[in-house]
Amino acid sequence: MALIFNFDSLFDERLKEHRFDEGRMRDLREKSLKAKEEVLSDIKSQKRGFSDIVYNNEILDATLKLADEVSSRYKNLVLIGIGGSSLGPRALFKALRHPFHNFIGGRERGMNIFFLENVDPDTFKATFDVIDERDTAFLVITKSGSTVETMSQFMIVRERLIKQFGESGYRERTIAITDPQKGNLREIVKHDRLCSLPIPENIGGRFSVFSPVGTFPAACCGIDVQKILAGARQMNELIINSDIDNDPAMKFSRLMYLAKTDYNRNILIVMPYKDSLLDTAEWFQQLWAESLGKERDRDGNIVNTGTTPIRALGVIDQHSQLQLYIEGPHDKVVMIIGVREFRDKIDVPLTLQNFPGVSYIGNHTLNEILKLEENATLQSLINAKRPSFSIELDRVNEENIGALMMFFEFATAYSGSLYNINAFDQPGVEHGKKILYKALGKPGS
Ligand code: PA5
Repeated sequence: MALIFNFDSLFDERLKEHRFDEGRMRDLREKSLKAKEEVLSDIKSQKRGFSDIVYNNEILDATLKLADEVSSRYKNLVLIGIGGSSLGPRALFKALRHPFHNFIGGRERGMNIFFLENVDPDTFKATFDVIDERDTAFLVITKSGSTVETMSQFMIVRERLIKQFGESGYRERTIAITDPQKGNLREIVKHDRLCSLPIPENIGGRFSVFSPVGTFPAACCGIDVQKILAGARQMNELIINSDIDNDPAMKFSRLMYLAKTDYNRNILIVMPYKDSLLDTAEWFQQLWAESLGKERDRDGNIVNTGTTPIRALGVIDQHSQLQLYIEGPHDKVVMIIGVREFRDKIDVPLTLQNFPGVSYIGNHTLNEILKLEENATLQSLINAKRPSFSIELDRVNEENIGALMMFFEFATAYSGSLYNINAFDQPGVEHGKKILYKALGKPGS
């Protein structure tokens, strides 16, 4: 694991009146100690399972065994799930596989994977235009077992498969990942005698990437899951064994807490300078938004808390959103996620010598240009007195992605305690679900 956290730029003198104050960080010590104690005690008492799951060999063995069986039999995997049941696996796949994996994947290099997340009929139909169902396994993931978007698509797939391949053909090519005991999908698993893997009861959707939700599809696609978990364990141990001033997740949480409470910075820009990390930013966006955007604190007071995470992509968004970050309202903190080494090195040739307006670009590499652009953004943000900080990965590999995701999970859990809110529920989305249930005619709605 090689991740470098550079929060110092938030205290840079050049930010002038917008620089973060070390004194305020120190004032938060007591609160931070309590928050850390609370999160660690919830982990120890098994109230929260997101940290321990990376040590659960029983679940891992079952996951790898099933992934091995499925990937030896089928070329494609269609994952049906939404929110925490799809963003984690998609982030792992995008970060760790070839950008065009589905053109070159299949059995030896790991299964091709397709995601059915939204209930967009055109995407649904289009997926079936490009896969051969005879060579495809279907993976349905839902912790609650009742998510309309997931279950509606599963119901269509189930009928299709039974019609084409009979009950046993459907059973052979369908895998479910859900709560170990309860929920409709668990009942369906029993009824239809499907293969299944559990999402431990103490792990909620958006914290489930290290459970079979993330590890099973990753293993099917040929990703070395053991390495992801090794990186996550390293970060887990670093966090658990550090005091609050050396715990990177606590530092991040304290700073983001200050950003909101002291500096009125309500927006957190997540800007990787790496195409393959955009989905990791999307995964983080859900983790942060759904966990921390809360109306009430744990004492029932109205607090309307949370900071809005916005994903951006370097350098694409330099040509899109950066203008706003540099000159717009002082309501943001920018988090840059950089990568030191890339898989490939691409030279720009020394050519077009008669055109000095562009020939100077020759003799550089795309790698160099991307890194220089990242540095230029950091510099220009500081010069414009816009607070930013960076996280640098030496490269995008399994260990670093595991570590980065564990870092974000702890940071989110700590932040919940700092705000004194429940970071593990999502009451705000329940009302809309009730309206939908009524409209769809759910019994008792
Ligand atoms: O984090 C959460 O709990 C949610 O975002 C869920 O992951 C999402 O709503 C999907 O839920 P389920 O896995 O029950 O289908």
